[in-house]
Amino acid sequence: MDKAITGAGTYDWLNFNNPISESTADELVRRLAWSDPVEILDVGCGWGEMLLRLLAACPQATGHGIDHDRALLERGEANAAHRSLNDRVRFSLDITAAEPADLVLNLGAEHVFGDLDDALEALWHLVRPGRLLLFSYQFWQQPPDPATEAMIGPLPTLAELVETAASKGWRPLGLTVASPEAWDQFEFGFLADWEQVVMAGSGGRDEAGPSAATEAKDAADEWRQAFMARRGALGAAFLTLGRPAGS
Ligand SMILES: C[S@@+](CC[C@H](N)C(=O)[O-])C[C@H]1O[C@@H](n2cnc3c(N)ncnc32)[C@H](O)[C@@H]1O
Repeated sequence: MDKAITGAGTYDWLNFNNPISESTADELVRRLAWSDPVEILDVGCGWGEMLLRLLAACPQATGHGIDHDRALLERGEANAAHRSLNDRVRFSLDITAAEPADLVLNLGAEHVFGDLDDALEALWHLVRPGRLLLFSYQFWQQPPDPATEAMIGPLPTLAELVETAASKGWRPLGLTVASPEAWDQFEFGFLADWEQVVMAGSGGRDEAGPSAATEAKDAADEWRQAFMARRGALGAAFLTLGRPAGS
């Protein structure tokens, strides 16, 4: 794991800000590299881990990652330099910098465009005809309990998600669903930033109010309990979508 930033809430223990296992990442990169992209765009890239892995697998390609979080882009830049990819990738803060590409990634970041429909429609114009989009979105794989549904909001079933994409003209070419193990690693990796703070100090209170350890413990407890309630109900799908040539 390349790390460039440390501390609570910085995703320090995650390779992806998404429930993507190493084996799923390898498989997605292998499949997408086969399409031989020359320009790759990652919208809502975070630190751009999937983008960097694709660039490593596609030596002829250049990449552009866009995210409005400057700290995450700095982590991406540091990782790119560490892997000698910095001459083939650039990062931007603003979605208006997006230009059509041969392969577009939008992973857990549909809200850059609005809702699911907005994202699938906007991304159509960013994928060149005949090329690919890797799109991830959440779905209910089991009916959620009422508190979980109220917290997460309405989501499609997997079948509804795939058919929504198809109804917009996309050809569903590949589907991978996050495994339970990937979810556990992702959620406990997310919690690890807080747990590091808890483990390093006492959970007591000082005169100025709750200590950092107490605040971290409270945040971690709340997140972990919410995750355990939604575990198995919330799914994440990674859809390879094609925009047909001539469309
Ligand atoms: C769940 S994370 C996924 C990050 C990355 N795609 C990954 O899979 O590791 C969603 C990302 O979208 C970014 N984001 C949210 N709204 C945005 C916007 N309006 N413009 C640019 N980036 C945005 C966030 O900063 C965050 O990094």
